[in-house]
Amino acid sequence: MKIGIDKIGFYTPHLYVDMNELAVARDIDPGKFTVGIGQEKMAIAPITQDSVTLAANAALEILDEEDKDKIDFVIFGTETGVDSSKSAGVYVHELLGLNPQARTIEVKQACYGATAGIQMAKGHIALNPESKVLVLGSDIARYGLNTSGEATQGAGAVALLMSADPTIMALEDKSAYFTSDIMDFWRPVYSDKAFVDGKLSNEQYIAFFSKVWGQFKEKSGLGLKDFDAICYHLPYTKMGLKALRTIWDEGSDNDKERLEENYTFSAKYNRIVGNIYTGSLYLSVLSLLENKEDLKAGSRIGLFSYGSGAVGEFFTGILQPNYRDHLYVDNHTELFQSRTAVSVSEYEETYEDTLPMDGSTMELDIDNDPATICLAGITADQRQYVNKRNK
Ligand code: HMG
Repeated sequence: MKIGIDKIGFYTPHLYVDMNELAVARDIDPGKFTVGIGQEKMAIAPITQDSVTLAANAALEILDEEDKDKIDFVIFGTETGVDSSKSAGVYVHELLGLNPQARTIEVKQACYGATAGIQMAKGHIALNPESKVLVLGSDIARYGLNTSGEATQGAGAVALLMSADPTIMALEDKSAYFTSDIMDFWRPVYSDKAFVDGKLSNEQYIAFFSKVWGQFKEKSGLGLKDFDAICYHLPYTKMGLKALRTIWDEGSDNDKERLEENYTFSAKYNRIVGNIYTGSLYLSVLSLLENKEDLKAGSRIGLFSYGSGAVGEFFTGILQPNYRDHLYVDNHTELFQSRTAVSVSEYEETYEDTLPMDGSTMELDIDNDPATICLAGITADQRQYVNKRNK
């Protein structure tokens, strides 16, 4: 039985800052951000968006009534959840009006959470072929103003509907994974900003890629020639390219050319959104499928997932006949075109605008946020969410 991705939804907030402007404000040569790191725009989340609303907005565009009825498992991958106990998925389940006869959980392992969700979904569908599973990867990446990580922030969510006989991509069974306890990036429970050893994180990303790619080749007997594209977790778009270049020489000139060209397509959306942590690899997959118009059915795509701390996995999927008919290209073009650029000082104000943590009430103005699902405030430590369609 084929199991895989049947629909892919995406949402990013309506605000962004231009990386050239950020560089100038930080007295840095813009080339460092646009070429050295490979980022053009960075999505900014207003206070009315959090990981719950981003995920709910991403899922909203893809689910029809039949999906809502058949989803019996919601898996929410995030490392910027809103509660240490209650799963962010339960809020999304309610906001989307899903069938109550469902399991709903949150999964955490830095940027690897959604990949863990996909592998769980695969097992669940193998046992229950009629089921559909909603896997969400949603985060707001925050390192702090004026830090070296600042240029690698971002915000957004990807929603993946997993099913048997998927319309977009069937996942293959061979997969290679690796865990090792390292301190390259972490966020203690008392901090709303990530801590990072930037240099170590870059080195470990490459080291984990090398380990799982090596294991994968041994397990599968496949090599570069068997791939039409490889998509990466993209904390910034230069990172995946660095990893791809470490295996360059294993292929022919044709392989290099094809993989490099397709890498550019797979990084297009990430270049104008930034790091969205758990959703980042799947935003890259979406970017490839929506921007590279002539990828054929039957193409094999490699996926490298990396979550600091750290866990890495390499797995593969095969594009299905007419997969392009099941993408939401127009919605995403419109989403990007309708965004508003903010100045660096507006970005800094938005960054500092946070919810109270002392139980007091705050009402938020959701009229300024074009998103359908918003955070409307907080009362007695309880977040108040609104789906404007139900108002
Ligand atoms: P940095 O140390 O300030 O930057 O921060 P740098 O000095 O290493 O420069 C970056 C690149 O720009 C270099 O290129 C420079 O040469 C180049 P490279 O040698 O790497 O190819 N450069 C220029 N290029 C053109 N024109 C110029 C110019 N100047 C310099 N004028 C760093 C960079 C990524 C370390 C920092 O932003 C950071 O710490 N970010 C957060 C951590 C991160 O993203 N790590 C990536 C791997 S870990 C991961 O992916 C997991 C993660 O997503 C978290 C999770 O799992 O949850 C982060």
